[in-house]
Amino acid sequence: MKQPISRRDWFKSTLALTAGMTITPALVNTLMAGPISEAERVFFSERKLVGTKVRLNSNENPYGPSEKAKKAVIQSLIQGNRYAFAELGELQKIIADKEGVDSSYILLGAGSGELLCQTGIAYGLDGGRVLSAYPTFPLLMNYAEQMNAKWDRVDLNEKLEFDYEKLLSAIQKDTKLVFGCNPNNPTGTVVDSQVVKSFCEEASKKTLVYADEAYIEFLEPAQQKSMVELVQRIPNLIVSKTFSKIYGLAGLRIGYIVAHPDVLKKVSKYGDTISPSQTAIAAAKASLGDEDFMKMTREKNAIARKVLTDYLIQKKIFHSKSQTNVLLFPAPVDGKTILSKLEDKGFLIRVWDYKQKEWCRVSIGTVDEMKAFVKAFDEVIA
Ligand SMILES: Cc1ncc(COP(=O)(O)O)c(C=O)c1O
Repeated sequence: MKQPISRRDWFKSTLALTAGMTITPALVNTLMAGPISEAERVFFSERKLVGTKVRLNSNENPYGPSEKAKKAVIQSLIQGNRYAFAELGELQKIIADKEGVDSSYILLGAGSGELLCQTGIAYGLDGGRVLSAYPTFPLLMNYAEQMNAKWDRVDLNEKLEFDYEKLLSAIQKDTKLVFGCNPNNPTGTVVDSQVVKSFCEEASKKTLVYADEAYIEFLEPAQQKSMVELVQRIPNLIVSKTFSKIYGLAGLRIGYIVAHPDVLKKVSKYGDTISPSQTAIAAAKASLGDEDFMKMTREKNAIARKVLTDYLIQKKIFHSKSQTNVLLFPAPVDGKTILSKLEDKGFLIRVWDYKQKEWCRVSIGTVDEMKAFVKAFDEVIA
């Protein structure tokens, strides 16, 4: 049985990593943002990635950063010698106003991933359980497991959507946190906001609810019903957002969570207070609420996604009904072959394991990239 890990032990193991401890595949598996499938484990152990590849493996935005963001980053360089205390406070206030809460409800991080890790640590340290549907973005649960929690998973429904009813009934007495993701990664599927809202209201009576909204801005503005509106009424709720997806700032690293100050106090203990850089803050400030850029990304993404879905429909390949920049479908041939033959043709995707099957997770690139991808994919599976 795993021994509980104390806060001190956690800092010690972090130190061991930075001091150059050997990174084994098992460790990579636990530390990587996405779960590594068996096909990927074999593929990466045998191959070296060379040359430029079309990256359809990380749900990035091929159109970002916006021109406004790039300009702001260049201007911010002059502040590169200064800790961003004031700038961080300023962005915190801007985000708080946008979300309709007090600044004390906002915690910024170097990507929402950093905050998912911190939350996993904070709620996993005392053992117990964390719960999510699966497949979903596993980072928080991976960190909670590293601490000493058990990760309970419920399957998606037959349409590959989060099943919030099943999730609610899977909460146990020692469930410390339940993770929801709407829209979900790796499927891009969306559950009606009323269903998610009722879930947040009911589940939060029993445990802490984490609502990940990394992809919410891919929905049309009228459909973007965030759970942030519940946060002041429900102290047991965290909502997270990122600048990595619709704003195309994945490499600059900035995201935030919205929650009651007591919850933020617990989470913030496990991170730095000023982790976002001057450049990331400047880009985020210039990007926030840039409706033109978001609209452009949404529209181009929808056209490019249709290239892929049209192909899958034509081939009669079942797939998730994505409304974002990623989708999932069962691998028509074995995952290792798909990964290596696609790489030879210049494309990177992910293969996930789920229900004893292999699944292709494909991020949406530009229209030209998706046209070239379906051609290459068709040859690979022929
Ligand atoms: C659902 C979800 N949440 C959070 C993240 C983390 O993104 P970032 O750390 O870039 O904000 C990702 C990244 O792919 C994601 O898919």
